[in-house]
Amino acid sequence: MTGGNPRPKKAHVITFGCQMNVADSELLSGILREKGLDLIGSPDEADLIVVNTCTIRRKAEDKAYSQMGRLMKMKSRRGPVPLVAMAGCVAKKEGRDLLRRFPGLDIVLSPGRVPRVGDLLDRRLETGQAVVDIGDRPAGAVEASPVRKSEVKAFVNIMHGCDNHCAYCVVPAVRGPEVSRPPGDVLEEVTELADRGYGEVTLLGQNVNSYGKGLDEAIDFPGLLERLDKRSGMERLRFTTSHPKDFDSRLVGAIRDLPSVCEAVHLPVQAGSDRVLRAMNRKYGPGEYRDKVNLLREAVPGVRISTDIIVGYPGETEGDFTATWELVKETRFVSLFAFKFSPREGTAAARLEDDVPGAEKDRRLQAILDLQRGISREINEGMVGRVEEVLVEGPSKTDPGMMTGRTRGNQVVNMPGKQGLRGRLRPVEINGAGTHCLMGRFVGKAGEK
Ligand code: SAH
Ligand code: SF4
Ligand code: F3S
Repeated sequence: MTGGNPRPKKAHVITFGCQMNVADSELLSGILREKGLDLIGSPDEADLIVVNTCTIRRKAEDKAYSQMGRLMKMKSRRGPVPLVAMAGCVAKKEGRDLLRRFPGLDIVLSPGRVPRVGDLLDRRLETGQAVVDIGDRPAGAVEASPVRKSEVKAFVNIMHGCDNHCAYCVVPAVRGPEVSRPPGDVLEEVTELADRGYGEVTLLGQNVNSYGKGLDEAIDFPGLLERLDKRSGMERLRFTTSHPKDFDSRLVGAIRDLPSVCEAVHLPVQAGSDRVLRAMNRKYGPGEYRDKVNLLREAVPGVRISTDIIVGYPGETEGDFTATWELVKETRFVSLFAFKFSPREGTAAARLEDDVPGAEKDRRLQAILDLQRGISREINEGMVGRVEEVLVEGPSKTDPGMMTGRTRGNQVVNMPGKQGLRGRLRPVEINGAGTHCLMGRFVGKAGEK
C-alpha cells in the first residue's frame, strides 16, 4: 500500500469532446494497459477512472463537471478507491483549481501530458499526494497507441495545437501552439496500421492545411497525403479539419488524384455573413468559401462536403443569419453540426456582449437543423439504386442483425448479414435512405447490380 491506494488493476476511461480526445483516450488506455491494468467498460469495478474532458462550449464543460460530481460521490462511498484522474481540455484550463473543486481528485493532466500518464500515476502512488501536470506535449513523445477503439478504422494525429485565433475559440488556449509531427513518424504509424489490417485512417489536426510548418523537412499537407498514398498501403485516407482559408487547389488535386484519399471534406464555414466571418477572425468571406466549394466540386464530382455552423454570434442580426441560412441552402452539405454561440473565458468574443437572446439562438439553430434535415434526406434518397464501395465496420450498434459501414463519402450504410466481412471493402447497392444513414445490400463487384 502506498498513500492509501494499492496499485490499481482495472481502469475505466470516459471520453468527451472531439476526435483528438478520442485519440488521446486511446493512447491513455494503451499506456495504462502496458502498465498492467485491465481496461473495463464500466466505472463500478474500476480502481482507476480517467475522465477526458472538453471545454469547447459551456455545455461540454458542464457535462465534465457533472460526471466528476457523480464520480466524487461514488468515491466517497467506496473509500480511497477508485483513483480519479481528470484529463483533457478542462483539466488544462482549470489546472490546480480543480483540486479545490473536487478534493478527492488524484491526478490532473493536460492533453499534452497524455503520453506521461503512466509516470503521473506512479507519482501519485509513491507520494500519496494529488498530482497536477498541465504542461505541453513533450517533443518526440509516443503517439501510436497499442489500444484502439476499432479494428477497422483509426485516428492518427498529424499535428497538435492551433495557431489560428478564431475569436470565439478556446482551442489555441488549451491545446497550445501548432506543432506538426515529422512525416516519417506519421508514415510509420499509418503503415503499421495498414499491416495490422486497418482499412481506413483519419488524419487529425485543428487545421490540417497548415501541416508542415516548423518541420526540418519541407513538406505540406498535400505532400504528406501523397507520401501516405504511395507508401503506407492504407486503403482509405481521410482528414479533419480543413480550414477554408487555407483550402487550396493543391489539396483539391490531391483529393482528385490520390486513390486512397476519400471524396469527403469537412469544411467548417461557421457563418454566411461577411461581417460575422470577419468578426470571428476566420479570414475568408462567404464568396471565397463558395468559390472553393465550386473548385472542389468541379474537380471531384460527387464529393461530400460537411460543415460546422455557429448561430447567435455576438451582433448577429436577422440579416446575418439569413445569409447563413442561404449559404446552407445553396451549398447542399451532406451533413452539418450546428452550435449556439457560447462565450468562452479568455477568448476575444467573450469580451463582446452576448446579445442574441437564448430563445432566438434556439430558433436559429432549429431553422438550420430543419433546413439541413431536408437536404440530407434528398441527397441520401438520390443515392438509391447506386452501388457504393463500403468499408464494413461490424455489427450495427442499434441492430446487431445488421452490419454497418461507410461509403468513401463518409455516409453510414446499414446492410443485413455477412458478419465475416468486417474490415473489408465491399460493393453495396443502396436500397433505402433516411436523414442520417443509408440502407443497402451486398452485391457483386462495384458497378454491377
Ligand atoms: N479546428 C476546427 C474546429 C474545432 S472546434 C475548425 O477550425 O474548423 C469544432 C467546432 O465547434 C467549430 O467548428 C465551431 O463550429 C464550434 N465552436 C467552437 N467554439 C465555439 C463556441 N465558443 N461556441 C459555439 N461553437 C463553437
Ligand atoms: Fe478553433 Fe479556429 Fe483553431 Fe479551429 S482553427 S481550433 S475554430 S481557433
Ligand atoms: Fe473539446 Fe478540446 Fe477537442 S475543447 S473539441 S476536446 S480540442
